Amino acid sequence: MIEAAIIGISGYTGGELARLLLIHPEAEITYASSRTHNGKLIGSVHPHLRKLLNLRIQSFNPEKISDSCNFVFFATPHGVSQTMIPQLMDRGLKIIDLSADFRLKNLNTYVHYYGRHTCPELVKKAVYGLPEIHKEEIKKAEIVACPGCMASASILPLAPLISEKVIDLEKIVVDAKIGSSGSGVKPSRSTHHPERANVIRPYKVAKHRHTAEIEQELSLLAEADVKVSFSAHAVDTVRGILATIHSFPLREVTEKELWRIYRKFYGQEPFIRIIKRREGLYSLPDPKTLIGSNFCDIGFEIDEHVGRVVLVSALDNLVKGAAGQAIQNMNLVAGLDETTGLFFPGLFPV
Ligand SMILES: NC(=O)c1ccc[n+]([C@@H]2O[C@H](COP(=O)([O-])OP(=O)(O)OC[C@H]3O[C@@H](n4cnc5c(N)ncnc54)[C@H](OP(=O)(O)O)[C@@H]3O)[C@@H](O)[C@H]2O)c1
Repeated sequence: MIEAAIIGISGYTGGELARLLLIHPEAEITYASSRTHNGKLIGSVHPHLRKLLNLRIQSFNPEKISDSCNFVFFATPHGVSQTMIPQLMDRGLKIIDLSADFRLKNLNTYVHYYGRHTCPELVKKAVYGLPEIHKEEIKKAEIVACPGCMASASILPLAPLISEKVIDLEKIVVDAKIGSSGSGVKPSRSTHHPERANVIRPYKVAKHRHTAEIEQELSLLAEADVKVSFSAHAVDTVRGILATIHSFPLREVTEKELWRIYRKFYGQEPFIRIIKRREGLYSLPDPKTLIGSNFCDIGFEIDEHVGRVVLVSALDNLVKGAAGQAIQNMNLVAGLDETTGLFFPGLFPV
């Protein structure tokens, strides 16, 4: 049985981890921590979990965690898990970190995008937790560094075309749109309702932090340097990411060939759906059709006019973009089928 601790239970990904672990047949939550809600029941912080989870929030205590858990999830901002994980090492615990602290293999890149790192030696131990790319390494990992939500939405659609060397590695443009839960639970001026409602707002149109991990992972697949032009936009939804990606083939490609490439790469992957229909409202991926689920939907269209392949991907930032993917990783580390407790549809309509 998996006994899980959630550090950072009071945030949005912490709440989503709790929701998903509650219905997981092989896991139970035995410890949950937050600095500001110590002593409260989880249901008083996350109202959708009332009556379902009778567990009190505690402060972070490594001894108590190692006494009551075998898996520890970090749902904390970057900079936090790197100070806490060293206190949990050598206790036989498996760590699943949702923050950026262990994603980047190059320390200088981490420092450039996020600032100081206090335990670079542990970065080497961590495996980048994108199961569709690193499944076998994840199964053996002690620390899994789950990807950023927009990084998953970018890497997953691009990986097949990069692996098959179809597209130009220096001309990749990702235009990603994300709902408000991507900013976390802590309010700020930009997330305040009068400022956030009704927006289609560009932010971090250059130098977005997720660029670093997208380039890291795509460069590994390409066995060459990949450059990505990434821009983000805040849109007026609570959950969901839609990425429109402009890529430029190095040679002529046909739809039939793209279907073959995507089927070969993802045919066995339970959480990837290739969505490309000739007509209809949902002929390409749309977050509306997967909110609450662990699916990443991917579609493509060839634009012969300018020699472009447009890729479209959609996922729920709190599920396949965060907590669902974290549990998919937990399943792999625990030797379970990766779909355990996760193979359910989204809510529709939302
Ligand atoms: N939101 C998303 O869509 C998403 C997707 C993928 C990955 N992520 C990543 O997942 C992590 C959590 O994101 P989130 O959106 O859930 O954030 P959040 O809603 O802001 O929650 C953060 C949690 O961490 C705790 N925390 C904050 N500062 C802390 C500190 N210094 N020490 C210990 N605990 C601290 C907070 O509780 P207390 O203040 O009560 O301690 C809270 O429970 C982030 O690293 C984020 O980048 C988020």
